Amino acid sequence: MSTKTWRIGLIGFGNVGQGFVRILANKRDILKNRYGFEFKLVGIADPIKGSVYDPDGLDPKTLIKLIDEKGNIKDYPKGRKDIDSLTICRSDDIDIVVEVTPTNIKTGEPGLTHIREALKNKKHVVTSNKGPIALAYRELKELAVKNGVMLRFEGVVLSGTPSINLVLESMAGVDVSKVEGIVNGTTNFILTKMEEGLTYEDALKEAQRLGYAEADPTADVEGWDAAIKTVIIANVLMGGSITINDVEREGITKITREDVRRALNNRKRIKLIARVVREGDSIKASVKPEEVDLNHPLANVMGAINALTFYTDHLGPVTIIGPGAGRIETGQAILSDILAIHRYIMGGRY
Ligand SMILES: NC(=O)c1ccc[n+]([C@@H]2O[C@H](COP(=O)([O-])OP(=O)(O)OC[C@H]3O[C@@H](n4cnc5c(N)ncnc54)[C@H](OP(=O)(O)O)[C@@H]3O)[C@@H](O)[C@H]2O)c1
Repeated sequence: MSTKTWRIGLIGFGNVGQGFVRILANKRDILKNRYGFEFKLVGIADPIKGSVYDPDGLDPKTLIKLIDEKGNIKDYPKGRKDIDSLTICRSDDIDIVVEVTPTNIKTGEPGLTHIREALKNKKHVVTSNKGPIALAYRELKELAVKNGVMLRFEGVVLSGTPSINLVLESMAGVDVSKVEGIVNGTTNFILTKMEEGLTYEDALKEAQRLGYAEADPTADVEGWDAAIKTVIIANVLMGGSITINDVEREGITKITREDVRRALNNRKRIKLIARVVREGDSIKASVKPEEVDLNHPLANVMGAINALTFYTDHLGPVTIIGPGAGRIETGQAILSDILAIHRYIMGGRY
C-alpha cells in the first residue's frame, strides 16, 4: 500500500486536543497499515499548557505523559518553545491545522482568525470549534475552495458520532426537510437524574461533579449550546443562513422534578428538543423543552447520550444515537476528518 506522511499542527491542547493526541499515540501502526496514513505532529500551540514546535515531529506518547503528570508540556525535551497559534497557521512545515480552541458564539474568536489564516496559507483545516462554523460557514468554505484546501468539522454537533458527514457524504443527494434531536448531553443528563428523583439543583450539581457541566452551566442549561448547533445544522445541512438570534430558545431551568413526574405519569418524557424545519424557502429553528411520547425514539435517549433524526426525501427518517461530547469521542471526529482528507488526496484509495 502506498503511504503518505501528513504534517499536522494543533492549536489548543485542552480536552479535545489531548484526546486527539492520545489517539495518535495509540494508533500509529494501525493508521499506517490500514489506511497508508503516516503523520508528523509538528507543533502544538496553547497559551497555558505550553507550545512546542519541531519539524521532525513531536512524540505523542511523551506529550501525553507530560500532560498527565505535569498538566503542561513546557518540559518537552526538544523543539522550539517560542511559537504561537499563528506560527502553526503560517508554517511551511504543516499541511493540516487542527483548531480546537474554546467556542465563542458571539465572535468566533480566536478560532475564526486561526481558521482564516490557515486556509489563506493553504492548509487543510479540521476543527470541532462551533463558533467559526456557526458564524462564518459560507465565507470559510469559499476561502477553502479558493485556496484549494479542505475545511472539515464533523465534531461540531455530535462529537465523533456521525452527523455532518453522515448527511453531506454518506447521504449525499438527499434533501433534508426537518432535523430534530437531543444535542446537549448535560441537559439530557440533568433531566434523566430528575426522573430518578433529584431536584434540578441537585441534578446540576451531580452533572458538575461528573464533569458534564461547567462551573458556569449557562451555555448548556439555557439552551445556547444546543441553539448554536441548530444554526450549524440549518446552515450546513439545510442550505439556511440563520444566526443564533433566529433560534427560538428556552432552556431547562424552569423545569421541576414535579413537571418531570407529571409527564411520566402521562407516558411522556420531558426532553430538550432541538428542531430545524424547512418551510418553503424559510428555515425555522428552535430549542425548547417538550413532552415526548414514551414510544418516540428520542424519549428513550437517556443520560449524556445525544440523538438526531434527519427527515429526508429518499430515505425517510434516519436516526443516529451516540455520544455528543468527550475527549476521545471528539478526538475521533478530528481523526475521521483527517482520514477523509487523506482519502481524497490519495484519490479515494486506501
Ligand atoms: N469537549 C468536548 O466534548 C467537545 C465536543 C464537541 C466540540 N467541542 C469543541 O471543541 C473545542 C475544544 O474543546 P475542549 O473541550 O478541548 O476545550 P478546552 O478544554 O477549553 O481546550 C481548549 C484549549 O485551547 C486553549 N486556547 C485558548 N485560546 C487559545 C489560543 N489563542 N491559541 C491556542 N490555544 C488556545 C485553551 O487554553 P486556556 O485554558 O488557557 O483557555 C485550552 O487549553 C471547543 O470549541 C469546543 O466547543 C468540544
